Amino acid sequence: MKVPFLDLRVTDPAQRQELLQALEAVMDHGRIILGPEVKRLESKIANRIGSKFTSGVNSGTDALILALRALEIGHGDEVITTPLSFIATANAITVNGAKPVFADILDDLTLDPNSIEPLINEKTKAIIPVHWAGKACQMDSIISVAKKHSLKVIEDCSQAFGSLTTNNRHVGSMGDIGCFSMNSMKSLASLGEAGMIATNNKEVWEKIDTLRYHGLINREVCNFVSHNGRLDTVQAAFIEKRLDRYESLLARRRDTAQFYHDELSGLVHTPKENPQCRDVFYTYTIQTDKRDELQLYMAEQGIESKVQHIPLMPDQPVYKGITRNNSNNARKLVQKVLCIPANEKVSNEQREYVAKIIKKFFKQS
Ligand SMILES: Cc1ncc(COP(=O)(O)O)c(C=O)c1O
Repeated sequence: MKVPFLDLRVTDPAQRQELLQALEAVMDHGRIILGPEVKRLESKIANRIGSKFTSGVNSGTDALILALRALEIGHGDEVITTPLSFIATANAITVNGAKPVFADILDDLTLDPNSIEPLINEKTKAIIPVHWAGKACQMDSIISVAKKHSLKVIEDCSQAFGSLTTNNRHVGSMGDIGCFSMNSMKSLASLGEAGMIATNNKEVWEKIDTLRYHGLINREVCNFVSHNGRLDTVQAAFIEKRLDRYESLLARRRDTAQFYHDELSGLVHTPKENPQCRDVFYTYTIQTDKRDELQLYMAEQGIESKVQHIPLMPDQPVYKGITRNNSNNARKLVQKVLCIPANEKVSNEQREYVAKIIKKFFKQS
């Protein structure tokens, strides 16, 4: 049996039809950029996560870049973030002229709130927690450190649309700004590149609205240096359709996560969910000292898995030695992490096969 990590084809006939109809609607009205579907999606997402304002942008990377720019974080400033993320988190800081500083992670792979304070100095302007693999960070502790030192908080929710922390709070609604990626690999996905910014601050939102199109305040007048980061109407139309089905998609991901937990928790470290929170399992990340051997064995049996993300951001050639970090736990954990196929398209037969092969590996070794 073959188990791909992710299959981006649209294979379900009903879903295909729905997306084609959404495309036709856009071709009919012709408002290709920031059309009515973008406005509708923005307001649906704002309502869903409990934020006052949202802006559709063309990627999660752009969401982060524009968020930092709107908060005027740039040259001479430092931003503290996790060492474990896709490189976009650090690069968004750097392209704005600021410096990323890397804290540490907890055993659940989210940003360790206690590792932030020792890195704060007079240059520090913001914290970017990343809700890694769809698990909410400990936002109350992170926000309290930020408040104590008058820092902004930008949540990187690229992997976590729909994750909830205590008191049913959605990721993206707790910091000053929430940034989402909706590229085709994400759980709430477009058929290409897409992103969203959320905030409760009207002034910040109005600035982002200007920044997402070259800092133009009208057709002619440019008040800020920026670039074109607008969201395509077609992508918004696709995401809108998928948003309608999102809860059932999450239910399937969570069911598979529970299945793996029941099957594998004695053999490998499996993700633990806080009963007061809801994780969306963007990836299902196990931890084992035999990671490399297990990955090879699974590949030989037709199962694709991924190691996310080596090298850690502070150890990337572009950052190594030039920024500060205290990422010791992350360096240990990243040797053990392995993401196994767990998205909503993984069938019962496939997940049973994955569990069987992992059990077989540990029986043999
Ligand atoms: C944690 C994190 N931040 C930022 C991004 C960047 O998002 P995008 O690919 O939409 O630019 C990603 C995308 O994979 C991500 O996983």
